[in-house]
Amino acid sequence: MVTLFRNLRNVIDYVGYICSIVGSVVPRGTTLLDVGCGDGAITRTLSDQYGIKTDGVDVFPQDYAQYDGVTLPFADGSFDASLICFSTHHADDPQRVLDEAVRVAKRRVVVIECVTNSAARRAVTIALDYAVNILTHPHERFPMTFHTSDWWHSQFKRLGLRLVAEQRLSTWPVRVYDQRLFLLEVTR
Ligand SMILES: C[S@@+](CC[C@H](N)C(=O)[O-])C[C@H]1O[C@@H](n2cnc3c(N)ncnc32)[C@H](O)[C@@H]1O
Repeated sequence: MVTLFRNLRNVIDYVGYICSIVGSVVPRGTTLLDVGCGDGAITRTLSDQYGIKTDGVDVFPQDYAQYDGVTLPFADGSFDASLICFSTHHADDPQRVLDEAVRVAKRRVVVIECVTNSAARRAVTIALDYAVNILTHPHERFPMTFHTSDWWHSQFKRLGLRLVAEQRLSTWPVRVYDQRLFLLEVTR
């Protein structure tokens, strides 16, 4: 019951919940690029409440800069850290988004994404995310590319990232999604 209420609070205060998790693994004063920042609510809150020096980009321009979804307009290692929060599954090429987020980060990369380790989980994740997107962004159509946790681990290995922590998140009252945070250290 307690878990149910705690998770319910996470749905209502999605931004507060995500920022509290990211703020607990990214120190104050860190420069961080939020890749796929959407309306920038997380980007701004991390800056205002957690003292993280954020910037954001997205393929759709809102409050932050627009980019082409392929190449981030920043030099290698321009930020201490990068954050990808639920944006790879809507990208045409999720692997490329990860590659770019790693390229611009000197020390850490934080990935928050749904993983789909079974056909049933994948079907439920796609159906729910589709419904959420119809309600919140009725005019936008995105790809829905979800991956298994093994796929993510193989990408981290390919990019020479050290997995510092892997944490299950819950922004829904019951665990319909398998949402995870991967905290990664850049080792190049
Ligand atoms: C579910 S929203 C998440 C937004 C924000 N990160 C958050 O958690 O509130 C997914 C975002 O991914 C963005 N997106 C789509 N393709 C992308 C790409 N190639 N690179 C970065 N972001 C992309 C979309 O425009 C959208 O803003």
